[in-house]
Amino acid sequence: MNKIIIAIDGHSSCGKSTMAKQLAQQLNYIYVDTGAMYRCVTLYAINNGMFSGKSLDSDALEQRIGEVKISFTRDEAGQLCAMLNGKNVEKEIRGMSVSERVSMVAKQPFVRKMLVEQQQRMGQDKGIVMDGRDIGTTVFPDAELKIFVTASAEVRAERRYKELLDKGENANYEDILANVKERDYMDSHRAVSPLRMADDAVLLDNSYMTIEEQNQWLLAKVNETLSKDCPDD
Ligand code: DC
Repeated sequence: MNKIIIAIDGHSSCGKSTMAKQLAQQLNYIYVDTGAMYRCVTLYAINNGMFSGKSLDSDALEQRIGEVKISFTRDEAGQLCAMLNGKNVEKEIRGMSVSERVSMVAKQPFVRKMLVEQQQRMGQDKGIVMDGRDIGTTVFPDAELKIFVTASAEVRAERRYKELLDKGENANYEDILANVKERDYMDSHRAVSPLRMADDAVLLDNSYMTIEEQNQWLLAKVNETLSKDCPDD
């Protein structure tokens, strides 16, 4: 059966990663979390003193962007982990320090150029589920299946709050809600590749869906696409 590219875009904290990961596993496809890549660049900038508070010295980052090497690996439990210059940074990139600064990094054209090229190389053999903000519009405008996911800001903040508590981290619901709203605004208003639903994407509002319902919905979309794309398979 032909392999396809599945682009999953949408607002932050919609559970895109969870759904994309599960779908990739079921289809035996590669999964790529592009948000983790922007988070890795942000962590690199923080660790190298390129932030003063929330303001970024973008010239300093641009000069040293070639030093940023991102990859993914699996830990002993089989979980995918982001690696920054050979170090597992999966936990660090999910903390508030990175979450509060990542939009500043994600709006830099030189960062997007480097990461988009890397993402396109990862998908050249298809058989990939990639989640992010610009996958269906910029990275793979010809993806066979594009999903745009959303949920209300409150539902998303609640989910992220629980996720952080479950990991034993400090969390404040109001701060998280403010961060979700701020990121929505910055993601949709930046000059380069703003978050927008591709004209040929399918909308998924999962505010009141269980993970199982959502997975069934996605599998139905994949089957529809596969039978349209390769009716004889
Ligand atoms: O999906 P996430 O919350 O981990 O993404 C982190 C940030 O990276 C988010 O603020 C938007 C940005 N991002 C982006 O601009 N383009 C992508 N393809 C993925 C994420």
